[in-house]
Amino acid sequence: MMTDTLLLRGRVLSFKSEPQGPDDTDAFTYLEDGALLVSDGLIRAVGPYDSLAQEAGDARLVDHRPNLLMAGFIDTHLHFPQVQVIASWGAQLLDWLNTYTFPEETRFADEGHSAEMAGHFYDQIIAHGTTTAVAYCSVHKASADAYFSEAARRNMRMIGGKVLMDRNAPDGLRDTPQSGYDDTKALIEAWHNKGRGLYAITPRFAITSTPEQMEMAGALVREHPDCYMQTHLSENHDEIAFTKELYPDAPDYLGVYEHYGLLTPKALLGHCIHLEEREIDVLAGTGAKPVFCPTSNLFLGSGLFDDAGLRARGITNAIATDIGGGTSYSMLQTLNEGYKILQLQNQSLHPLRAFYWITRGNAEALGLSGQIGTLEAGAEADIVVLNASATPPMALRSERTRTLSEELFILQIMGDDRAVDEVYVAGVAQKGVGG
Ligand code: GUN
Ligand code: ZN
Repeated sequence: MMTDTLLLRGRVLSFKSEPQGPDDTDAFTYLEDGALLVSDGLIRAVGPYDSLAQEAGDARLVDHRPNLLMAGFIDTHLHFPQVQVIASWGAQLLDWLNTYTFPEETRFADEGHSAEMAGHFYDQIIAHGTTTAVAYCSVHKASADAYFSEAARRNMRMIGGKVLMDRNAPDGLRDTPQSGYDDTKALIEAWHNKGRGLYAITPRFAITSTPEQMEMAGALVREHPDCYMQTHLSENHDEIAFTKELYPDAPDYLGVYEHYGLLTPKALLGHCIHLEEREIDVLAGTGAKPVFCPTSNLFLGSGLFDDAGLRARGITNAIATDIGGGTSYSMLQTLNEGYKILQLQNQSLHPLRAFYWITRGNAEALGLSGQIGTLEAGAEADIVVLNASATPPMALRSERTRTLSEELFILQIMGDDRAVDEVYVAGVAQKGVGG
């Protein structure tokens, strides 16, 4: 589809690498009066407004000054069928799943319900500045069809998969090793690398899959090495104990996934809170990526993710909302709670690293940093426009801001969807501010 050529003017911030400290200005490009030339879904050029305006021809100018233009946010772990589970009271992981989450997910057997919720899901993530996400769908093939068809309709780069789960779940929410395998194959055929869609093979976690299903998941990973694999690991003490009962021969929780061949650099492992030494070695050796889910870890009382400890072992951590164990669609609020979790462990999440993390960092964890997570020429034109004075308290605080890092930290701690002034998906404005 041909689209308008746009010249977006504003304060441009894009990361080239991970900032190594508060003064690492080599890690990013910042243009005080910058611009992006966008056409046919791609960023064609980036530079100072004055020079780009010369080569922009009859491009349509959209002036976002004084707001910041950054790459759209990337959420590396959330659950599409949990949009109506957020804020369910009083339970930790296993009770929360059984009491609230599994009953809600059974409703996604219905195609109409899946389609309606997919619309709401995408409206919400976009409103919060997220332009790529990695989602778990329900066990029903129809839920993944709804998820990917709505992404295709909106031309979004989305990753996801139907969950494989054949035990320890209610009627209406279990597949079989064979049906899970067959449905996953059909979904990969239909959606992987179709438009901007990418597939994630998704055994929910060890508790809800029999060894036979884990075998099948391993076969899927071997047969589709270019797909992602996502699951959960070491989120909660009762979960870990139950997993060890179900897989008594495994050396530890991660040993289950290791045994079935699920661990590659394309493996995304939600939570990774209560890890044993051997598990950390296996993560480092396989290149599998832990995913930090701060709002969920606090809400479900799961525990404190040791970001610095894992990084010191050479492991790359992603960060995510984990809706609906997580409590906000906002990657800014995710950073806010993440900051506090790390503070409790004497680890301070600097705003430069924080904004790197939810853009290029998560893109690198997904192996997609050439396409998303930056505002470089040639990248896909997924862009967020941020206003650090969006609310009266933010505006009041911003009167005292002197540096870019201070401005970013206000967004990191006080920001949410109100700070997201506009979002472009493949170069198309989603809120109407950008025309
Ligand atoms: N472990 C297995 N399933 C889930 C889920 O839906 N949410 C969270 N937070 N953990 C899980
Ligand atoms: Zn999850």
